[in-house]
Amino acid sequence: MRKALIPALVFFLCLFLALPALAKKVPTALDLLAMFPVREPPLAADPANDPLIRLVNRWNTLPSSFKPRVYRPGVKIRKNAEADLTLPAAAALEKLFEGAKAQGLTLIAVSGYRSWQSQKYIYARSVERKGEAQASMMSAQAGASEHQLGLAVDLSCASLECELSSAFAKKKEGKWVAAHCAEYGFIIRYKQEWVDVTGYQGEPWHLRYVGPEHALAIAAMDVPLEIYIDYLKVLWQQGLPVPGQ
Ligand code: DAL
Ligand code: ZN
Repeated sequence: MRKALIPALVFFLCLFLALPALAKKVPTALDLLAMFPVREPPLAADPANDPLIRLVNRWNTLPSSFKPRVYRPGVKIRKNAEADLTLPAAAALEKLFEGAKAQGLTLIAVSGYRSWQSQKYIYARSVERKGEAQASMMSAQAGASEHQLGLAVDLSCASLECELSSAFAKKKEGKWVAAHCAEYGFIIRYKQEWVDVTGYQGEPWHLRYVGPEHALAIAAMDVPLEIYIDYLKVLWQQGLPVPGQ
């Protein structure tokens, strides 16, 4: 009797220890399809052709010739920094900053569009300072940064002296951004628990513009952009008429 109890106790102990990890598991596109089998309104176009959710990461890169037209948003920008963005993202950033201001919070933009060449320089400097292994988890190689899309922006606040810091997540400005950025079309692109999917460590300061429709869906699903895009692709395929019918 006692002999049978020990394996049972070990089993329940393992289950108990594994539960938090299981609960934290990043859902796959198939998990999302089970949870959200339809999308309202239905997709009107192939998500692969939607420029707002163009995927750029270490596995999906941009050529050096990719240079979007960018504009300077009318927001507070760190001294000697640039935070240009493509038009819809720049306009949305102005609204985000106004929304924060209405709550008595002042955000500061630290970085926006970066060319292929400037990303190459930034990555090389990061490798010099931190070594390749550490640098590659926090900085993208040339072509692998979504800053080159003109759709990504880095934020900070005065109490962080305009530095990019994981402490932003604990500041009132960072908390407000995390809670409200989707209403303005932005997502927090890199969460620490998504590192295996995104390839980069958590960056509470890095926002990616995808438009409010996608941003609100992504925030509700709480998944990385990679998984959301896979989910949309399957939904799109499922909505297509079966050939020959
Ligand atoms: N820090 C992000 C990953 C970038 O360099 O684009
Ligand atoms: Zn960034």
